[in-house]
Amino acid sequence: MSTQHKLIIGNCMSMEEIPDESIHLMVTSPPYFNAPFDYKELFKNYDHYLGVLTKVAQEIYRVLQDGRIAVLNIDDMLVNGEKFPIVADATKIFQNAGFRYRDRIIWKKPDGYLRISKRSGVLLQNPYPMYFYPDNLLESILIFQKGKFIYRSISKETREDSKIDVKEFSNNKWYMTLWEMVNVLPGSTLEKDIAAFPEELPYRIITLFSYKGETILDPFAGSGTTMKVARKLQRNSIGIEIKKSLIPTITKKVGFEGQLTFDNNIDSFEVIIRENVKYGCVS
Ligand SMILES: C[S@@+](CC[C@H](N)C(=O)[O-])C[C@H]1O[C@@H](n2cnc3c(N)ncnc32)[C@H](O)[C@@H]1O
Repeated sequence: MSTQHKLIIGNCMSMEEIPDESIHLMVTSPPYFNAPFDYKELFKNYDHYLGVLTKVAQEIYRVLQDGRIAVLNIDDMLVNGEKFPIVADATKIFQNAGFRYRDRIIWKKPDGYLRISKRSGVLLQNPYPMYFYPDNLLESILIFQKGKFIYRSISKETREDSKIDVKEFSNNKWYMTLWEMVNVLPGSTLEKDIAAFPEELPYRIITLFSYKGETILDPFAGSGTTMKVARKLQRNSIGIEIKKSLIPTITKKVGFEGQLTFDNNIDSFEVIIRENVKYGCVS
């Protein structure tokens, strides 16, 4: 089965190139509000951040087919000692955009995960009450649905072609609300300076919520992990990314290195660059 992949360089607050109801699944990880290492001071304030999420949620609702799923990998963010309740606010924003909140899965990283700092060390140095700051090993995976899925709208052939391997489902404990997945390791070169999620995350979501030949959207494409996995699973993909400098990374990761437009009669890759794209220009 041949697949098509499109990368749009621009701000995903508008998805003008994508027609209404043309997407079968959305999976993404938005920037976390002013995350100290990745997005320091990208947003003017928290309301500005929530305003961006609101616009994006409305666009996702517009482009998604009725009955289909939108998945957000997101988490509360600690900025200068204050935790911002992004999970709760994003849930409300997606509900207000028209989605039904279906589920929350917790992604647990390995115990040794160390990205920012071992905050718990404070107590080891000061073993007294009031010095407790836990190390965070968790992120949320929020699952939303637009309307109601009509199961009989899928042909028998397509259903069979996209059948889920129940051994993999059971052995890897996909059935629980706790998914233990290894994060992208700090030394990986392709994802350097990008807060990428592991391929396992879109792999599970795409397998569980889409059929072969359908189109997967990631509006915060980053290094192109979702697009890569969509291709591997014989789905089409559309990625939107504001940073033009990530074109070579995404092209390489999705497997079309060296060419902006590539068509080998099997899979195709197209890059659309909007005019006047400015990183951080999100108002
Ligand atoms: C958390 S990263 C996504 C990482 C991705 N899941 C991966 O595996 O590589 C978020 C990405 O969104 C991009 N971004 C931030 N604001 C954006 C916007 N308004 N429109 C499109 N992309 C944006 C950032 O440049 C960053 O690459």
